[in-house]
Amino acid sequence: MDSTTALTILFQNIRDIRELMNNDNKWIMHSLYVGQAASTIAKRLNLNADYAETIGYMHDIGRLISHSNHVIEGYKYLDNLGYPDIARYCITHSFVDNIIPNTAGGGPNKDSYDFINNYLNNITLNIYDNIVQLCDLFCLETGYTTFEKRILDITKRKGVYPNSLEHFKSIMELKNRLENMMGITIYELFPQIKDEDLASQNSDYEELMKLFKNDQKQSRKTWKLFSFFTFKKRCKKVWKNIKKSLHLVGEYVRIINVCFVHRCVRLLIHQVKLSG
Ligand SMILES: [Fe+2]
Repeated sequence: MDSTTALTILFQNIRDIRELMNNDNKWIMHSLYVGQAASTIAKRLNLNADYAETIGYMHDIGRLISHSNHVIEGYKYLDNLGYPDIARYCITHSFVDNIIPNTAGGGPNKDSYDFINNYLNNITLNIYDNIVQLCDLFCLETGYTTFEKRILDITKRKGVYPNSLEHFKSIMELKNRLENMMGITIYELFPQIKDEDLASQNSDYEELMKLFKNDQKQSRKTWKLFSFFTFKKRCKKVWKNIKKSLHLVGEYVRIINVCFVHRCVRLLIHQVKLSG
């Protein structure tokens, strides 16, 4: 598949500009920017720019079928069309360095997990995986932005999860790695990024860290509460076992008593018989 075919597939349901502006189709413009950005980065790295552009256009194609399960649906869609090589990026784009916890929104649900885990374990990470992963994280449907703004936007929409901070760190590490390879920063390579986005980089970062921290605090509170209930539950269980043990001891004593009385009665009868 080349970038022209990819564009035809991407725009197959769009008949006019109003449809493109529709909220449900925001991902199409986002994909357009991801394709353009991937091509720019690939050129800089002396890689196949048209291939990078193609996979950028196709990475979110699963959204034609389902938004929540677009990763697997996109893979199946392109695989069925006869493009298993391009289908790969429908899965890998969501996981930085092809590592499952390095993703937004907490990770795949248990129905998708095995499929994705199995797929990622059977492929080797390549540079195009990394390029699309990075481009996905600074491309909005309106153009390029800072990673801080994009992650802040995703975090506000999808919420904070135990892996959110690690995901953010993995993105920044990937950004540094590719920038070192290119010998230029992403923000220098894409001067289209708005000055106001660049200016709010620090405040966006602080807001993001605050969200992560607050959530950790919340998690700790929840854990304390959970621990309290677990402790109470354990105490109840221990008390139940003690009661059970006391009951058994009581029973045992009762049996001994009965045996003792029984023996005494037998001895008494024996004595009576002897004396008679
Ligand atoms: Fe995307």
